[in-house]
Amino acid sequence: MSSVIAINTAEDATTLAKANTLLTPRFYRTNNDAFDEIDLTPVRAEFDALMAEFSSDSNRNHFERNAEFTAQIRELPPALRQEFLDFLVSSVTAEFSGCVLYSDIKRRVKNQDIKDLMGYMARDEARHAGFINQSLKDFGLAVDLGFLRKDKKYTYFAPKFIMYATYLSEKIGYARYISIYRQLERNPERRFHPIFHWFERWCNDEFRHGEAFAIMMRAQPKLLTGYNKLWIRFFVLAVFATMYVRDHARPELHGALGLDATEYDYEVFRITTACTTQVFPVTLDLEHPVFRAGLDTLTAISVATTAAKAQGGIGGLLKRGVLAIRATAVFARLYFLRPQTHALPEAIRMAPVW
Ligand SMILES: [Fe+2]
Ligand SMILES: [Fe+2]
Repeated sequence: MSSVIAINTAEDATTLAKANTLLTPRFYRTNNDAFDEIDLTPVRAEFDALMAEFSSDSNRNHFERNAEFTAQIRELPPALRQEFLDFLVSSVTAEFSGCVLYSDIKRRVKNQDIKDLMGYMARDEARHAGFINQSLKDFGLAVDLGFLRKDKKYTYFAPKFIMYATYLSEKIGYARYISIYRQLERNPERRFHPIFHWFERWCNDEFRHGEAFAIMMRAQPKLLTGYNKLWIRFFVLAVFATMYVRDHARPELHGALGLDATEYDYEVFRITTACTTQVFPVTLDLEHPVFRAGLDTLTAISVATTAAKAQGGIGGLLKRGVLAIRATAVFARLYFLRPQTHALPEAIRMAPVW
């Protein structure tokens, strides 16, 4: 059963984009001094090669709509339309969140390398957000990004948490876009909207953004050793669990794409996990039966929480309290599962081969 709220007007779309829940994308602020202090000397060769890629800007002309795009837009059944709109609104918010964070860091840092890098990434995310917003505009539902930048609540994250979380969200973004693209390459009749056709070159931007964070983290080995490995496990689990619960609230969208949400999510987990071996010394055991069952329990708890919210009153509130305690217990159980460990490879960079 979908828990997606109705999006009927542009105001609804902006309200949804502005909302901060456990499952919606947030805007972040951080302490930019830490970015000034990154010493890129040990990763200079990788960093310079990456910056050359950013500067060559191979996707400069990619995010433009053509006649082929417009010709493919069709009417969607109401339930699918709602979930697709929800998907577009949360995607535009996530893309714009990157744009806001990167341009904020760019504005404040003095380190010229980091300033330039953040400028390139903000450029890409602005294009991505603008491109999605054009599709929302077709429905008369463009999100007011200027308003969002001013009015959405910002969450403060310490710089190292920004590193872990942003790295993960970039690599997950890559894995999500490429998995959908490959599915539709195999089943072109499932491509119910032209935007999916843009995902292949698009996801290479996200992959490259992830590379930037991998290089920055490898330049700061302390972030990847000792008790920080506990933080890494926490962030990986939190973003995986959030994605799993959110995707399972969109049965129509996955059905239309011919994807089983569980299989799709595990494919995204596998790709992301393979990517993270470039930088994280610990990875989650995705095949562990307790892990798999735990994610399903968290999904069921989320569905029950939505129902309790709708019920309201003291009864609803009590139920929500109990469900929150259960969710925390399940999360803790998954957190303490034994992770897989490995040594970091000498070469940091990876290629987007999926
Ligand atoms: Fe992006
Ligand atoms: Fe990105």
